[in-house]
Amino acid sequence: MATTPKFASKIGLIAATVGSAVGLGNVWRFPAETQANGGAAFLLLYIGCIFLLGIPVMTAEFALGRGGESDAAGVYARVTPRRRHWRLAGGFSVLASYLILSFYMVVSGWTLEYLLRSVTGELYSSLPADLGADEAVFASRMSAYIASAWSPIVFTVIMVIANLGILLLGVQKGIEKMSNIAMPLLFLLLLGFVGVALSLPGAAEGVSFFLRPDFSAITGRTLINALGQAFFSLSLAMGILVTYASYYPPQTRLTRTAVTVALLDLLVAIMMGLIIFPAVMSFGLTDSSLEGSTLVFVTLPEIFVRMGAPSLWSSLFFLLLTVAAFTSTISLAEVSVAFVGQRLKCRRRTACLIVVLPLLVLSPVCSLSVGPWSGYTICGMTIFDFLDNVTTNYMLPIGGILLCIYMGWVAPRDFFRRQLTNDGTIRAAVLPAILFIVRYVAPLLIAVILLSPYL
Ligand code: PFF
Repeated sequence: MATTPKFASKIGLIAATVGSAVGLGNVWRFPAETQANGGAAFLLLYIGCIFLLGIPVMTAEFALGRGGESDAAGVYARVTPRRRHWRLAGGFSVLASYLILSFYMVVSGWTLEYLLRSVTGELYSSLPADLGADEAVFASRMSAYIASAWSPIVFTVIMVIANLGILLLGVQKGIEKMSNIAMPLLFLLLLGFVGVALSLPGAAEGVSFFLRPDFSAITGRTLINALGQAFFSLSLAMGILVTYASYYPPQTRLTRTAVTVALLDLLVAIMMGLIIFPAVMSFGLTDSSLEGSTLVFVTLPEIFVRMGAPSLWSSLFFLLLTVAAFTSTISLAEVSVAFVGQRLKCRRRTACLIVVLPLLVLSPVCSLSVGPWSGYTICGMTIFDFLDNVTTNYMLPIGGILLCIYMGWVAPRDFFRRQLTNDGTIRAAVLPAILFIVRYVAPLLIAVILLSPYL
């Protein structure tokens, strides 16, 4: 890959970047975090974290990627050729994104399996007449599907191959075209679900839990959780935004793009809240767990049964989830494709194969670790949980701190300024504020997240 490809249109680059940000983090992590941290109070803190930290750090990643015009590691050597060792920080983010990809792909396989079993109606076949008994049925179906040996592997492999197909088509014809179709579809499906959820009887109670803050619920933990969720949801510190920004043309306004992407990601999270909380309250499922997998694979199917026509609702919902997860896996994989392509100076096709083929082993191992191999543990966790834990709780914050130190202290100050002002052609009044946050506030706060379990 001699030159860096570019996105063809403004809409396309926003769709692709939002596609990366909007994923399981919005759908299955956000409602759980909101429920566990006091509802609207958490939402407010989360919004604060997005504006105060998320957008500035995202802008820094965009500047590094577009200005460095290389892969997530190569950008460091191009921006500061005398401090090439900073490439290691980029290499670290590539490794983290690849590890995330290996288990995220498994979850995307589960969503595809649920989509198929919803379309065929199998998920809702022979349910007990007593509605109260279906929680146990869906819980046991979830373990039967997810923890079985073969079917999750088959669906994971289908998702790996679908990823390969899009990646092979390249940045414009693959990633951008796919995002231009996927993102409007996703917003349309979400809007439909919000409409249906808000018209359910008793929906207002759920809306009020979600939107009326109880400030007494805010603790130090709440802040840490809100910050962690903001980083996860915006795909920060994973090399993703650096890689995508290297495909941005010179006229792209970086700060404006960061605000747009962050707001759309927040909008999806809020829409998810406006779907889940009214539905849960309306059907009296308030004691049900909203924890990630249980929310999606047990509580929501219960809700779909109570709504009537469960296969239809379920098919639409799992289509939404599969699309959201797919655009995120593509962005996670693209980090490594760009890295391999640039480091080995090989063709895109070769880079795609080098990145994707090992997933055909790694992801099935992650999948088996939840089922038949759950007895094999690392630090008391299954391989799946271990990877999830190490990447999100440690690698993500460490990568974030390194990025902020680099953009705040190591990269030439003029570099950041030139990127935000498009070489002096546009004004960037927010530059001093962004620089202050990237230099001082963000690294300190991220360090607090990292150390929080020990404080
Ligand atoms: N931001 C996406 C999500 O919220 O699901 C995908 C993602 C990327 C998650 C990177 C986690 C991550 F570290």
